[in-house]
Amino acid sequence: MAKRRKNGLYAGVSDELSALMRTGWADTERHDLKLDEQAPYAARRRAALSARFPGERLVIPSGNLKVRSNDDTYPFRPYSGYVHMTGDQARDGALVLEPRADGGHDAYCYQLPRDSRDSDEFWLGYTAELWMGRRRSLAESERVLGLACRDVRTAAADLAAAPGVPTRIVRGVDATLEAAVTTDEERDDALEEALSELRLVKDEWEVGELRKAVDSTVRGFTDVVGELSRAIASSERWIEGTFFRRARLEGNSVGYGTICAAGDHATIMHWTSNDGPVRPGDLLLLDAGVETHTLYTADVTRTLPIDGTFTPVQRQVYDAVHEAQEAGMSAVKPGAHYRDFHEAAQRSLTARLVDWGFIEGPADRAYDLGLQRRFTMAGTGHMLGLDVHDCAHARNEDYVDGVLQPGMVLTVEPGLYFQPDDLTVPESWRGIGVRIEDDLLVTDSGHENLSAGLPRSADEVEAWMAEFGG
Ligand code: GLY
Ligand code: MN
Ligand code: MN
Repeated sequence: MAKRRKNGLYAGVSDELSALMRTGWADTERHDLKLDEQAPYAARRRAALSARFPGERLVIPSGNLKVRSNDDTYPFRPYSGYVHMTGDQARDGALVLEPRADGGHDAYCYQLPRDSRDSDEFWLGYTAELWMGRRRSLAESERVLGLACRDVRTAAADLAAAPGVPTRIVRGVDATLEAAVTTDEERDDALEEALSELRLVKDEWEVGELRKAVDSTVRGFTDVVGELSRAIASSERWIEGTFFRRARLEGNSVGYGTICAAGDHATIMHWTSNDGPVRPGDLLLLDAGVETHTLYTADVTRTLPIDGTFTPVQRQVYDAVHEAQEAGMSAVKPGAHYRDFHEAAQRSLTARLVDWGFIEGPADRAYDLGLQRRFTMAGTGHMLGLDVHDCAHARNEDYVDGVLQPGMVLTVEPGLYFQPDDLTVPESWRGIGVRIEDDLLVTDSGHENLSAGLPRSADEVEAWMAEFGG
């Protein structure tokens, strides 16, 4: 029984109430559920994982609810590696790949079953279905996921009962399961690495989901442009709320904290307070992504003149970033080194910064010394998928030191940021921040810009704002 909370207004439960609560419920087992369309893809992903670890047991938990206070919990987000390997999003779940003698694995998905109505817990426990919503029964989950499902309440005991099987678990996701197995940190890290690496190349179903995320994000940006006059009368909060409405209507949520950065907030890379004024004459840097119901996210940035027209200085900075993005995007093709797009964009920005006299040339020397980083700050992009910074645990040789392959999806997002207190640039440049970020799919012959539905050049941006601005 879950611990009772303090200060409840009811002192106890009478035997009569307890008996009343246990009876009179319909059988709501669903027999109409079908195999999820992602299931065959998840099965292929599990087969690829299995092939990497013959003879070993693999435990990939989904995670648990985290209490915020009393009976209030934080929004639950399943561990992305679990989602990828199962297609499931349930809390308190775990995928276990149990090794077979032939080197393959049997897969079991541990799940929290429906609440029994034979005890008081189903109506008193604040994380019970009656309070938080219906879950699937184990039989329902088997049909939806195409996986053998087991009761997660026996998982720790099942794992502890066979201590001789070499086991790896993804650490830091489920403390109870972690405590039930004996593992080695380095070997566990290799499991997390593998789960990241198996997400580097998206399958066709994932690409479809990313397309949905990006298309919805394009609509969200258009919503924001249509609401700019209301944002001017309000604040960055209006922009955040406008984008979020689109994300909730069409997807699950936003895939990361939206950055609504007007004026000099645009020079703050992770500005998510979004509580500042929106002033005509300034720029708005909007970095936002819709996350689909299946938890794939877009990651797009546009920098917009709030009154619809760039000032000459704003346009000069914008054009330099656009030029760098073009250079970076041209380097995205199969067989290219992952770093090529970053290098192309950064060299382009470095040349501009030398031309403007903000860093000392020649440009090649400045680039080798990394001097441009004072104004470019971040790397030029990253893999994208279930996580905004996807595949983060992959080995360097497979990611930043690797080679682009068809099916990879990455962002190209150069930027220039002139801090408001930077005395090395003219006053009129201080407080200007520009980033342009698109989501690119590597194809057999080059790349496809999934976010091409949004304007990129300064002229296109102004024309788009004139058409949709409000
Ligand atoms: N929105 C986070 C990033 O662009 O990487
Ligand atoms: Mn990004
Ligand atoms: Mn971004």
